[in-house]
Amino acid sequence: MDLSEVMRCAPTSRRFTPDPVPQEALRRALELARFAPSGGNRQGWRVVVVRDPDARLALRELYLPQWRAYMQHTGWAQMLEHPERSDPARLRMVRRADDYANRLQQVPVHLVVGVRLADLAVTDAGLPRQSIVGGASVYPFIQNLLLALRDQGLGAALTTLLVPAEAEVKRLLAIPDDIALAAHVGVGHRSDPWPRALSRRPVTEFAFAERYGQPLA
Ligand SMILES: Cc1cc2nc3c(=O)[nH]c(=O)nc-3n(C[C@H](O)[C@H](O)[C@H](O)COP(=O)(O)O)c2cc1C
Repeated sequence: MDLSEVMRCAPTSRRFTPDPVPQEALRRALELARFAPSGGNRQGWRVVVVRDPDARLALRELYLPQWRAYMQHTGWAQMLEHPERSDPARLRMVRRADDYANRLQQVPVHLVVGVRLADLAVTDAGLPRQSIVGGASVYPFIQNLLLALRDQGLGAALTTLLVPAEAEVKRLLAIPDDIALAAHVGVGHRSDPWPRALSRRPVTEFAFAERYGQPLA
């Protein structure tokens, strides 16, 4: 696929066929993802590829309580109870995400992505606000991975709700102490049709000329 096309239409896939994911396809995606940038080119990302059904079930058991708490916190749980009051597109997304959480063990491949803490260059650690820079050394890798999977016709869902259950996930997968969890990526053959383009805000809403707020030509 053409790069622009991949970038325009790599959706979050939450429904998969039971077809197995070829190991070569995963290898190829990881092979391409590793060209991502990272602070100091330290490449601290680490990935555990989980296919074992028992481990997938265990990951679901760790994911579900986090997802349910998130549903309550965001009001999405109430949305599912009163669908008639909700925006149809959002309702569809929340239903898909809820089904995804409930059936997480059925997702053929789970990629558990971590990063070596010692490899992070957290340049905003001293600011009096939430730090975001640490993640910048691992999420470009994950986005590369999503695009590379899409290029090979594989669907994927990036989520971060396993991270609060980091201690249990690390125990389950024998992940060393010096690695922090960054994301979970469910991978499989997408069962829904691929969209032609994702729904996103236009450039004029987020990019400015010279000064914040000034329209970009
Ligand atoms: C940091 C992050 C966390 C996310 N967490 C979840 C999640 O917990 N559950 C889920 O179903 N999707 C999750 N997503 C996927 C988003 O819902 C998705 O990217 C967004 O709705 C846009 O959907 P689309 O790419 O299919 O257009 C997450 C995405 C990101 C980047």
